[in-house]
Amino acid sequence: MSYEQFMRLEPLLPHLESITLFGKYEPLVCKDFTKIFNKISEYPIESYFSTNGIKLTREIAESLVGRLKYLTVSITGFTPDTYKKSMGARQLDRVKENLRVLNELKAERRTELPMLRISTVAMQDTLDEIELALDFVNEFDAVEGLQVTSFKAHADHLRHLMPLSDIENYRKFCRTAMDYAEKIGVKLDLQSGDVESNEEQTRDLGHRYCDMPWHRLSLQANGDVFACPVSYDPIGNFLETPILDIWRGSTLSTFRKGVNDPENMNEDCKNCTHCRHRSLLNPEANDFSEAERYIAGMTRI
Ligand SMILES: C[S@@+](CC[C@H](N)C(=O)[O-])C[C@H]1O[C@@H](n2cnc3c(N)ncnc32)[C@H](O)[C@@H]1O
Ligand code: SF4
Repeated sequence: MSYEQFMRLEPLLPHLESITLFGKYEPLVCKDFTKIFNKISEYPIESYFSTNGIKLTREIAESLVGRLKYLTVSITGFTPDTYKKSMGARQLDRVKENLRVLNELKAERRTELPMLRISTVAMQDTLDEIELALDFVNEFDAVEGLQVTSFKAHADHLRHLMPLSDIENYRKFCRTAMDYAEKIGVKLDLQSGDVESNEEQTRDLGHRYCDMPWHRLSLQANGDVFACPVSYDPIGNFLETPILDIWRGSTLSTFRKGVNDPENMNEDCKNCTHCRHRSLLNPEANDFSEAERYIAGMTRI
């Protein structure tokens, strides 16, 4: 998103409590990132984003320290080789160095911001690194702890890595993760919950109770506005319609009625793919290996 596109959202800024500066992609490849972040920082808005940390340079860190509230760094694979296997590039050392510099700047400026969190994807072949992941959190003083998202498959050869492909192994993993986190005093957030709680909380609706479209909108660089980050069809375009009209409009209001009502549920919500709300056991919410269309207007190429 360019700064000019972003400025179409300016009328919204005085009304916002919080803003999340990422979507499907890597936010630090946005050439106007710092300019946009500086604009947001003029308002008392709680800001947060998630990054793979590769482009978290000293220059970017300088602009974030003391102003960004939360920063999540996504790492799957906590040795150079397993990182390369899961993330596709040999960049773990660079990410660690970037985190060291960020922490030095925080210490120099005597600030706790941004509060760090490490996020990792639980795949059947990464589950045995959970202790390394929790130790990493302590090593880099990530006070917001470790967030674990469960893997969704986007290709046939990745299906066996989903939690539901070996649910007993995933159940064991949840127990090990909770026990070790408690032992070393690290905050742990299993985003989908453990298997038992996820099963119980998704039984009635097919997904966990969700209030997301009452608090947030998901905005794309091309102006498309989505009722939530994992819905498929836009409810408007903020480059064509004022964003506050979309927020108050009938399309969003109709979508909201279909979020938690089992009799009248939106197709998106029936198989909700959101990491915090989806069912771990429903194949349609986890297996996209055959899907041609995907969330927020994505298509297979
Ligand atoms: C889509 S990324 C976008 C933001 C940024 N590039 C990052 O790496 O944090 C957001 C999160 O989704 C997770 N993720 C990526 N692919 C996933 C998959 N197939 N299943 C579950 N989570 C996934 C990433 O690890 C990351 O924590
Ligand atoms: S798709 Fe999921 S996250 Fe989005 S509104 Fe529906 S239940 Fe909530």
